[in-house]
Amino acid sequence: MGRIPQETIERVRDMADILDVVSQYVDMKKRGQNYFGICPFHHKKTASFSVAPAKGIYHCFGCGVGGSAINFLMEYEKISFVEAVQRLGERYGIEVLHTQDSESKELFTYLYELHEMAADLYLRTLFSEKGKTILAYLSDRGLTEETLKQFKIGLAPDSWNTLLKLADQKNIPKDAKNKSGLFSSSEKGTFDRFRNRIQFSIFNTAGRIIAFGGRAIDPNDPAKYMNSPETPLYHKSDVFYGLHASRNAIRRSGYAIIVEGYMDFLQLFQAGIQNVIAVSGTAMTERHVAQIQKFTNRVLLAYDGDSAGIQATLKAGYLLFKGGVEPLVVVTPKDMDPDDWVHQHGADAFLRGIDEATPLMQFHLQTKNAHKLRTAERSQFIRGIVKDVAEIPDGIIRDDLMRILSQKLNVNEVDLARAMQRERSRLKTRGAPPHEVSKESVEISFTTKVQKAQVELVRILASDDLDSRQIARENAHLDMFIEPTLKRLAEALMPQYGDIHYPSIIDSFTDETERKAVAKLLMNHIPCTDPQQTVKDCVHTLKTDPLRKKIQEARLQIRSLETEGKDVTPLIIEIAELQEELKALSG
Ligand code: CTP
Ligand code: MN
Repeated sequence: MGRIPQETIERVRDMADILDVVSQYVDMKKRGQNYFGICPFHHKKTASFSVAPAKGIYHCFGCGVGGSAINFLMEYEKISFVEAVQRLGERYGIEVLHTQDSESKELFTYLYELHEMAADLYLRTLFSEKGKTILAYLSDRGLTEETLKQFKIGLAPDSWNTLLKLADQKNIPKDAKNKSGLFSSSEKGTFDRFRNRIQFSIFNTAGRIIAFGGRAIDPNDPAKYMNSPETPLYHKSDVFYGLHASRNAIRRSGYAIIVEGYMDFLQLFQAGIQNVIAVSGTAMTERHVAQIQKFTNRVLLAYDGDSAGIQATLKAGYLLFKGGVEPLVVVTPKDMDPDDWVHQHGADAFLRGIDEATPLMQFHLQTKNAHKLRTAERSQFIRGIVKDVAEIPDGIIRDDLMRILSQKLNVNEVDLARAMQRERSRLKTRGAPPHEVSKESVEISFTTKVQKAQVELVRILASDDLDSRQIARENAHLDMFIEPTLKRLAEALMPQYGDIHYPSIIDSFTDETERKAVAKLLMNHIPCTDPQQTVKDCVHTLKTDPLRKKIQEARLQIRSLETEGKDVTPLIIEIAELQEELKALSG
């Protein structure tokens, strides 16, 4: 990826108006100095999301996120830092140039160009004389011309080198061609990978084409689908088909419908059910779940109504639970997929399916006829579920699920709890699942007196009131800050030259939990009634605390030396001196 010179980044940061940027997406209302609206990053209908135009930062008091305009755009649009800076540059009339030193930047440019070129070719072919029968076939399957064009669905020519020739006309370098996944090579040379197939363009969240899925036309073709391989642009395990078009609908509705195939996605989207995405051909991964989590924490799984679909539903379902997303199941009629369902019975039928969506556990028990299982089978079945549930980090959800299991299958709750405990401790010794750690430490909390004093000082250092700030600057010293996050923040808030620059401060904290804590501190405007006294108290706490700790340590040492019958005089003297120091500080 290209690099943007630091000065340009700083200029963009300075120019970007956080309220202007946020207001494009969120309806903000003024309250006091700041603006408030509904947070686009979590699902509560309270106006906890706030913007401080004067500081150039945002923060949600509900879910804790926070940052600068650049960071907001990255999070909201799910785009890279470079892209966010570029877009803001366009909006505010700042020219954002990459340094040309990295060759990988050119590679990416060529790869995007190739994919666009290919999509155009496929679309043109579909709407040409050669595409007539396929166009009729697609229209028969219910896809409108508008849908085909919107999602760039086309036809790969029945030829070995149409795309290759186009690429060569445009002087695309060999390396880019090789890495694009659009060509294959044999001893006879290089040729088009996709030939005579219906081509589904796969987009990234920013709406650029990064890969293709090609469906065979001949029903006897051994490979019904042929997809792009992994390339620098395309990483299967975290791409959802259609997300670029559906993310706003997902945010608005508060949940995502996940289907398996391209056609399922298109049929639903076209029918107006637009909060949909497709896993398309790969099993759901943890990376997928992490991706969904950024948009919503509720998912409806609408997989195919066959046994493979049911198995995949259960697997995906527990994986979602593990990642903190609640899964429900839309039960697709037997041997249909959502595409057939909507095509044959209309969108209303599917909407009814949504209304009747079944929580994962209930679906699991129903679909396996669990209440009919006996003895060994039954016990094995229950053990299997306990194993899956044990990996869910949220204890409340685990308990709920175990209660349902116990009620529906008439299992003793105590026995279940015991089995769960065994499974949990087994997991712990094996190393806790990765989600657990991150889930349970989502917030840095400052609770001790010493921590609170540091927080208070940082708040005053960051305050809008210049007099208070000055008092803090004169009395606080960097050495007083013990918490690494607070120390870094305090340092940034006491710049040697110039003014405090909130957006760059917040952006310099790249660790998510740290940034949340920092956003909260910088945003929280609690006017300090008596800054002089508050600063004095905090400084006192922070200066005396190390002395108290030393005294405490010395006392402990004395105790152990005495039991060994050793001389403790030097320590007693030390304590006396420390106490003098303490007294002097408090005097
Ligand atoms: N898929 C794939 N590779 C395969 C098989 C399937 O990538 N070898 C993906 C495709 O995204 C496909 C989805 O899995 O859309 C579901 O596969 P399938 O049910 O076989 O196809 P449909 O989408 O139902 O296609 P059609 O309705 O045209 O038969
Ligand atoms: Mn189908």
